[in-house]
Amino acid sequence: MNKIETEALSIENLSCDFLTVEGIVYALSGVNLHLNRGEIHGLVGESGCGKSVTSRAILGLLDKKRTRLGGAIRFDGKDLLSLSEKEMRSIRGRRISMIFQDPLNSLSPLETVGNQIEEAMSNHLSLSPEELHDRTAVLLEKVGLHPDTSARYPFELSGGMQQRVMIAQAVCCNPELLIADEPTTALDVTIQAQVLNLLKSLQKELSLTVLLITHNFAVVAENCDRVSVMYAGRIVETAPARSLIENAAHPYSRALIDCIPRSHAGGNALPVIPGFPPRLYDPPAGCPFAPRCGKADDACAVMPPLTAIGSGDTNAGGDRYVSCHHLEA
Ligand SMILES: Nc1ncnc2c1ncn2[C@@H]1O[C@H](COP(=O)(O)OP(=O)(O)OP(=O)(O)O)[C@@H](O)[C@H]1O
Ligand SMILES: [Mg+2]
Repeated sequence: MNKIETEALSIENLSCDFLTVEGIVYALSGVNLHLNRGEIHGLVGESGCGKSVTSRAILGLLDKKRTRLGGAIRFDGKDLLSLSEKEMRSIRGRRISMIFQDPLNSLSPLETVGNQIEEAMSNHLSLSPEELHDRTAVLLEKVGLHPDTSARYPFELSGGMQQRVMIAQAVCCNPELLIADEPTTALDVTIQAQVLNLLKSLQKELSLTVLLITHNFAVVAENCDRVSVMYAGRIVETAPARSLIENAAHPYSRALIDCIPRSHAGGNALPVIPGFPPRLYDPPAGCPFAPRCGKADDACAVMPPLTAIGSGDTNAGGDRYVSCHHLEA
């Protein structure tokens, strides 16, 4: 199979500038991200690095008047950035759907759960009222909810149940790509695990490609095939999830993994990454991590390209790409 057949989505050199009254915010600066068909791809990075902006760019949800986008987002042979709003509407919710962190802000408080799922389906599928009703009952059961939940309002449900409703709505039209932006951070750990297990089993059953945005490397280790690490609006490393966690190549990926709390740390204070991410109003020309990196030298004044390294990773699900002049052995 060639690359186009195996890739569900390919983001090439994506830039996103927000035109604000305070000046231009360079939120994304040349993001390269490739999702293989049928994989769960983790996207991790510190708060403000551009994870949600990337997902909103994929779905065409950024305000066109105040945003300047560059590069390409290739999906099924088309560049999503070149499509009209009408064309995007036929893809959004149908072929690419999204689950947000906070279901209560995403579900309408005025409509029953059933009506909201039926409406999401009727936007894209030609089904009779009976078919919509029956399919909603099947979807609710699929996400572990009683079909009677259909008649209830979102505020009557627990956080975990609301997130299951969001998942039912997100998969109701059999999408090819599902973007889950921190879908479980608002939930307690046991419910978090149940919701992630549900996502994983649906991903298998429906052959979905999933972009899973998270802060949590334990979530990556448990659920993801590959993972990309983002820093200051760029992807700095992409690798099979397990191999990145065991042996990250980019100094920033390593530093992030070193910050994971471990039960055997013996009371030692957790390491922190010194310094702060760069201001996005005036991003540096070179490697944005250089001011915080112990390995930085003059070479880092030039931005290192995202480069394929190694070949031994292919059995673990993909190649490794790293953007650094000083790769770890
Ligand atoms: N509409 C906007 N106007 C101006 N700046 C914006 C806008 N939306 C996002 N930004 C900026 O873009 C950067 C990336 O934001 P984004 O929401 O993608 O971060 P994130 O990685 O999702 O963080 P978190 O983990 O906290 O959700 C941030 O600096 C944010 O302030
Ligand atoms: Mg976010």
